[in-house]
Amino acid sequence: MTQDELKTLVGQAVLQYVTPGEIVGVGTGSTVNKFIEALATMKGQIIGAVSSSEASTARLKAAGIAVFDCNEVEELSVYIDGADEIDAHGYMIKGGGAALTREKIVAAQSRRFVCIADASKRVRTLGAFPLPVEVIPMAAHRIMRQFVALGGTPTLRLQDGKPLVTDNGQHILDVVGLQITDPLGFESMVNQWPGVVTVGVFAHQRAQVCLLGTDEGVKTLHFE
Ligand code: A5P
Repeated sequence: MTQDELKTLVGQAVLQYVTPGEIVGVGTGSTVNKFIEALATMKGQIIGAVSSSEASTARLKAAGIAVFDCNEVEELSVYIDGADEIDAHGYMIKGGGAALTREKIVAAQSRRFVCIADASKRVRTLGAFPLPVEVIPMAAHRIMRQFVALGGTPTLRLQDGKPLVTDNGQHILDVVGLQITDPLGFESMVNQWPGVVTVGVFAHQRAQVCLLGTDEGVKTLHFE
């Protein structure tokens, strides 16, 4: 199966985690786009969604699904999102689509994170995928030097030749060369560097379940 077919497979399979009569947390990315297509088939059964990006909000609305602000909802039972990497504990790297901050906010508001991913995302150690970090622009160079001191090589993410601007008006660094062997400690450390908005390690907001699309079908991994 192609990667696109595997994404479709898990995007449909994850509907079993959507409870009728509820509001569902919706992530961002090409795998989630498949989920949004599938969710449209049960739009009459859910109240709506809380979205993690302007891009997903536009898709949800186009599919006829009501989108609620995070502050209108106290708690979500489930948040469904993709990942760039996921390890054997449900720890992830996210942010390839630059939506990591809002993704972490919605994940933190949800009782359960269900990750949907194709088999290529499963890793032993996080860090082969360039780690996205959302930063306040005036702190970018100092934060880059801090990553260099850790052995990483950071670059400022560009779009059309200019620094990419996130939904929150900030910039993204992508850091290669890191081997993140202690995701919880690493996330806590980087999060408290002044000027870091969000680091793309999702350890404190890890997945409890992952639906992994493989050539043999959907494998369900439990991390709870
Ligand atoms: C968006 O910012 C990311 O966290 C995505 O969830 C992640 O990059 C996975 O995206 P794909 O489903 O497009 O691979």
